[in-house]
Amino acid sequence: MEEWDEYYHSMHGAFNEAMHVYVESGLGFWKAENTTIRDSCTIFEMGFGTGLNALLTLEFAASNQINIQYETLEPFPLTLREVQELNFDSLQTLQDSKAFLRKLHLAPWESSVQISSTFSLVKHKILLENFKPQKQYDIIYYDAFGFRVQPEMWSEDTLRPIVEAMAPQGVLVTYSAKGSVRRALEALGLDVFRIEGPPGKREMLRAIRF
Ligand SMILES: C[S@@+](CC[C@H](N)C(=O)[O-])C[C@H]1O[C@@H](n2cnc3c(N)ncnc32)[C@H](O)[C@@H]1O
Repeated sequence: MEEWDEYYHSMHGAFNEAMHVYVESGLGFWKAENTTIRDSCTIFEMGFGTGLNALLTLEFAASNQINIQYETLEPFPLTLREVQELNFDSLQTLQDSKAFLRKLHLAPWESSVQISSTFSLVKHKILLENFKPQKQYDIIYYDAFGFRVQPEMWSEDTLRPIVEAMAPQGVLVTYSAKGSVRRALEALGLDVFRIEGPPGKREMLRAIRF
């Protein structure tokens, strides 16, 4: 029971963070700014991981009548067994989450797959350092492991190609509020804002290409 509690709380924490940082502060913000002129957008996610950000974004697309083209990188995908052990249903907030999560994980690499009527997905099995963006993105979810674990993911040089691929009015969000990350994004020409973080974290960053 204790183990289950811990598992539930960590799932719950991940869910709250994904909702606040990426879906609400990134996609929701972009939609509020662009809603009168656009009914579709492109999103790039750094680090597909469990697929939680993708799943929540798919649900946002369905409930907000917006078509989303979602592109993501994952050089170290979870095994099928690990995917099966993910249980977002336990949160009781997501409809059909298991079926959609399966579809997201089983989608082939390097091709565009229509996952739902309003959400298409391209997954690349490649390191960010080797990725060459081929299009412009309205929104970037920058969800790399933390600075302590992978400092190289937060440098100006690593960030440059994806920042350069941001569309005008594009929005980048990340859970990090680190000063060096803010300065790197500013050096790349973005306007960077410290905004309220998810529960348990004081601040996060939202950067905009004006
Ligand atoms: C914080 S996790 C992402 C969590 C994910 N967004 C989710 O919704 O579960 C960071 C991810 O980045 C991936 N990663 C690590 N190094 C990378 C690199 N050099 N390029 C691209 N992805 C990388 C990891 O495998 C991991 O899945």
